Amino acid sequence: MSNILSVRDLKVTFASEAGRVDAVRGVSFDIEQSKTLGIVGESGSGKSVTSLAIMGLLDENAKVTGSIIYDGQELLGKSDKQMSVIRGNGLAMIFQDPLTSLTPVFTIGDQLIEALTIHRGMSKKQAWDRAIELLTLVGITEPEKRMKGFPHEFSGGMRQRVVIAIAMANNPKLIIADEPTTALDVTIQAQILDLIEKAQSETGAATLMITHDMGVVARMADDVLVMYAGKPVEQAPVHELFHATRMPYSIGLLGAIPRVDKKEKQPLTPIKGNPPLLINLPDACPFADRCPIVISACRDGEPPLAEVPSASGVQHKAACIRSHEIDENGLIDGHPVYPVREVVESVLNLVPREQRSITLEVQNLNKTFPLSKGAFFKRKVVTFTPSRTSPSTCVRARRWRSSVSLVPARRRPCSRSWIWSSSRMATSSSTVRASTTFAATVSNARCVVISRSSSKTRWALLTPV
Ligand SMILES: Nc1ncnc2c1ncn2[C@@H]1O[C@H](COP(=O)(O)OP(=O)(O)O)[C@@H](O)[C@H]1O
Ligand code: SF4
Ligand SMILES: [Mg+2]
Repeated sequence: MSNILSVRDLKVTFASEAGRVDAVRGVSFDIEQSKTLGIVGESGSGKSVTSLAIMGLLDENAKVTGSIIYDGQELLGKSDKQMSVIRGNGLAMIFQDPLTSLTPVFTIGDQLIEALTIHRGMSKKQAWDRAIELLTLVGITEPEKRMKGFPHEFSGGMRQRVVIAIAMANNPKLIIADEPTTALDVTIQAQILDLIEKAQSETGAATLMITHDMGVVARMADDVLVMYAGKPVEQAPVHELFHATRMPYSIGLLGAIPRVDKKEKQPLTPIKGNPPLLINLPDACPFADRCPIVISACRDGEPPLAEVPSASGVQHKAACIRSHEIDENGLIDGHPVYPVREVVESVLNLVPREQRSITLEVQNLNKTFPLSKGAFFKRKVVTFTPSRTSPSTCVRARRWRSSVSLVPARRRPCSRSWIWSSSRMATSSSTVRASTTFAATVSNARCVVISRSSSKTRWALLTPV
């Protein structure tokens, strides 16, 4: 099968006041059509920066080198305009926080229809019908009604479903999902993973699944790349990686989660310490300060990602000078890499629960929050008459708040006129900044313009219920 994505020696650095941040330090991998590669690692290991480099969405202070071949074309060096065409035609991204991936001032329907009309060239009517189809596919009930809803009217899980529907709208060849379940309730996580699998089977897309959760990797990935301090430290097919782990860091990641596939039950073994700062890294194994089997040679140079023998005959690579000493069961010299902690039985276990003394007792606790109006936000609408109608930012609006009177809300904040007035604001060049603030502020649910005329501006001050 051919590769839809080939990344070679990808390096990303950021200029910062403290010095050059080497966020990604030579990442290489391939993803075949319809396959899933899981990239796993602790926070700060360079997973998101890798995915943003592929999408061409990195900050301007980023310097990217190496090669990213997507569907036969080199992405590095493409202009923003060229990248936006590529992004709309086959590259789809699902971010961790669905609220920030959706534009708060446009309806869900508008956002789906925009993806379909701009990138798929559909008419408004065709796009509407397809959008309804997609919302149904991702399990949104009453899709016609929901098309007119705004992101803040959806729960986190439903928003992520919408994001997946938008990803599917472009018939993706590659879906990049960056921690797509981290911000969701545990009960919703499994549903979203099901949906990503469904999106993958509907579209035949390959998936780059970025996560810090080994459980997600076990369930979704065909191949796994473990990253540490901006570099891959272990790479293997998923079954091999879970059953013949060769790099102490990966062994630590697996030892820190409960394993239902292991017969003998052992206490969890956390990895001590923190990942290193990615500035001026010494030429040594970056895991040395945390590794339970470190030897002095580990500090003589950074081990390359090299092939290790595999009993199952698959390609397995690890960046550790002692990998060959670690056996299939994760033992070194017959001992576990991470010393097994002795579990001391709590003295509390000796006393039956009902005989224990009460530390805190709560009975019949009720707490209610009065709502001014609306289901999701309590809100107050402010009307004021500035001497000159100025498109101010919400920050300024809040300052004005002291000099204006609060009057009861008369219009639903998600009515059509609200959105109409906000898009009208964005048409004037002098108000673009206000519109940007507007969007940013809605997602923080603080303060939004709901209508504006030559003499009056109405602001809704929103606070989450
Ligand atoms: N714009 C930036 N400027 C400077 N450093 C950054 C920037 N973006 C990310 N980094 C740094 O790059 C490193 C990797 O970040 P990231 O890829 O987001 O980690 P994660 O694996 O948690 O997704 C972190 O140390 C982070 O601080
Ligand atoms: S090279 Fe040394 S410090 Fe690094 S992971 Fe291997 S044993 Fe540990
Ligand atoms: Mg991240």
